Amino acid sequence: MCGIVGYIGNQDAKEILLKGLEKLEYRGYDSAGIAIMNNSGVQVFKEKGRIADLRQVVDQNVFAQTGIGHTRWATHGVPNHDNAHPHQSTSERFTLVHNGVIENDQILKREYLSDVSFKSDTDTEVIVQLIEKFTNEENLSVEEAFCKTLSLLKGSYALALLDEQNNGTILVGKNKSPLLVGVGDSFNVIASDAMAMLQVTDQFIELMDKEIVVVTQENVTIKKLDGTVVSRNPYTAELDASDIEKGTYPHYMLKEIDEQPLVIRKIIQSYQDDNGNLAISEDILKAMKDSDRIYIIACGTSYHAGLVGKQFIEKLAEIPVEVHVASEFSYNMPLLSKKPLFIFISQSGETADSRAVLVAIKELGYKALTITNVPGSTLSREADYTLLLHAGPEIAVASTKAYTAQIAVLSILAYVTAQSKGLEAKLDLVTELGIIANAMEVLCNEKEAFENISREFLSVTRNCFFIGRGVDYFVCLEGALKLKEISYIQAEGFAGGELKHGTIALIEEGTPVIALATQEAVNLSIRGNVKEVVARGAYPCIISMKGLEQEGDSFVIPSVHELLTPLISVIPTQLIAYYAALHRDCDVDKPRNLAKSVTVE
Ligand code: G6P
Repeated sequence: MCGIVGYIGNQDAKEILLKGLEKLEYRGYDSAGIAIMNNSGVQVFKEKGRIADLRQVVDQNVFAQTGIGHTRWATHGVPNHDNAHPHQSTSERFTLVHNGVIENDQILKREYLSDVSFKSDTDTEVIVQLIEKFTNEENLSVEEAFCKTLSLLKGSYALALLDEQNNGTILVGKNKSPLLVGVGDSFNVIASDAMAMLQVTDQFIELMDKEIVVVTQENVTIKKLDGTVVSRNPYTAELDASDIEKGTYPHYMLKEIDEQPLVIRKIIQSYQDDNGNLAISEDILKAMKDSDRIYIIACGTSYHAGLVGKQFIEKLAEIPVEVHVASEFSYNMPLLSKKPLFIFISQSGETADSRAVLVAIKELGYKALTITNVPGSTLSREADYTLLLHAGPEIAVASTKAYTAQIAVLSILAYVTAQSKGLEAKLDLVTELGIIANAMEVLCNEKEAFENISREFLSVTRNCFFIGRGVDYFVCLEGALKLKEISYIQAEGFAGGELKHGTIALIEEGTPVIALATQEAVNLSIRGNVKEVVARGAYPCIISMKGLEQEGDSFVIPSVHELLTPLISVIPTQLIAYYAALHRDCDVDKPRNLAKSVTVE
């Protein structure tokens, strides 16, 4: 994971780097550092903790027009000062930041660097020491030593290197981890994500794997590892800088929960053709119709959205679907059908576990569709087709609006595929999604009720169960994940009928059990399951849907089309988790140990 930035130009680099890193904190926030370079050499400032902590140790009196920076999510070595990036070679001539994981670092260390004394436990230090070694001992230019080092690395990297003896250049390399070069008037920048450098430019150049870039104040030269120069034009990043501000909200998560009605309306609009009909490009529809089985691959919240998507595709488009956690699929691929189509769901479009599957299935010659929030992201670029979420940047680590956007886009995909197969329409999706957006608004205006539920059920507990049947079960999985992620309450989502087969042993006097009851066919059964836990001392909180409610339910959500209930039943669980985290004084937007974009396998 981690985020990197770089600046070379005529302004003071420090503030640009620090501001950039603040925008990248979603990629990791356990330690951070910058290195700045001027005629007197390179100075490194680093600190355990957040960018705010780093700011405290940066010497504001040093002026430098070149620099690199890093915010870390620890993989090799605990989060501390020594393991924080940038890392330097023994002579301190070279300074490096790195996002990614080098798998053969120990082998390289043994083979080439047995005489070097290391200051950190990181794989990154191996890279910077190799560059120094090859420059010193093999009479190579720095660029040649850089390329030779990269050719030895196995794994993922986005790298930026400073050479104290050449303060007019930043050397950049990329493989698997995302990296962009931003171009400006008399300056150039690098960033893991365009968001970080929107403050200075909206012109970015994508980099491909195994490319290096020589970045100077005036030029950006992209080369392959063999030295061949590659020419590529910049694109305009269509991000609105105001989308990534919190505004008057105390937390991004609350802002993003509130944005959900807007996002659904934006999705409807974006997928409507000139006649107001929902439309998907013909090549995607053909791929859907040609496939005999769809494999949805995703992680975390996106995986939970995939479980709901399976219902749409099977029920509306009548194509069988399997949903797989990417990290498991990679190493334990099931027996595939004859004509599989792969759908990758990923908010960031950068998740390494999902990308590993994409690479594997492309090698087998299969087609892939990516559903993502980030145009131009790795998973989007490398798949055959992309459908965008149009949710706007999601900054809070806990995903909310991307989840509902993923479900909405999956519903449209299933619906339009069904139409194009000539199947009978089971609903008018534009109208139903419009109703959903309105119902979302109603729920977002009920914050006080969810704050009260959270206080009543979750203020003192160590654990909590979510139970539901059918699609409610899938929402329970997401509700439990949200609660765990941000409040650290141990939470589990369970199929209502399954709890009694073992896990009911954990129910004690006062254990909170949140039950979702939005499905008519299983309304009575889930209520039966609630009775079973209540008989064992549980404290039940039932969230039902209008028309299915019973006396004593804690909250009744507006009635929407039964197939689409996850789009709104998830909102109470998001808000309950938000308030539980708030009541416990947790860092809502940046929960411990997590990162938003997980670019390591
Ligand atoms: C991380 C995030 C989760 C997210 C998952 C998948 O673990 O903390 O919130 O659901 O990655 O991310 P993606 O960007 O692929 O949807």
